[in-house]
Amino acid sequence: MPRQVARVLFTEAQIRQRVRELASEIQRDFGDEDLVILAVLRGSMIFLADLIRFLQGPVTIEVIRAASYGHATVSSGTARIRDEMDVDIRNRDVLILDDILDTGRTLARIKGHIQSHGPRAIRTCVFLDKPSRRVVDIKPDYCGFTIEDHFVVGYGLDYKDTLRNLPYIGILEEEGN
Ligand code: XMP
Repeated sequence: MPRQVARVLFTEAQIRQRVRELASEIQRDFGDEDLVILAVLRGSMIFLADLIRFLQGPVTIEVIRAASYGHATVSSGTARIRDEMDVDIRNRDVLILDDILDTGRTLARIKGHIQSHGPRAIRTCVFLDKPSRRVVDIKPDYCGFTIEDHFVVGYGLDYKDTLRNLPYIGILEEEGN
């Protein structure tokens, strides 16, 4: 385990099991309907890759970029959005996928932004949720795990652009005791 990681919060096996369950929930709600999965880069890359392989319906993948932390472990409060979407989402069901819901600013901003593209409906799916940190009133429609206020890494989540590749979710050393 890298020295920056204090302990493992969710193992690879736990993640796999939960992602499979999330896919079943999404499958149950959308079935064979057309669905656009909009992944918020870069944190949700690995979650996206895993989730879509459990889905059987016709899904279209698109990405959007957002970054709010920079190199800090406390949200800077400004979520920058970079939209280079090619997929036309007008009158389509969109499922926004993000790695973690923290203050809620990023997801709220992205939701508002996507709304302006005229989708039929928007739902949200986050792998992790830290409800104790919320400053914007937003709840995900689908959530992998609810966690305490820890800075977590791995499974796509980074610390200073590293540790995304860890196959588990770990708690960062400084936060782990
Ligand atoms: P907000 O505060 O806008 O933040 O809901 C969401 C984004 O902040 C990042 N974030 C984290 N990244 N470990 C990380 O590696 C964390 O514990 C963490 N908490 C928030 C992340 O980019 C998320 O999309």
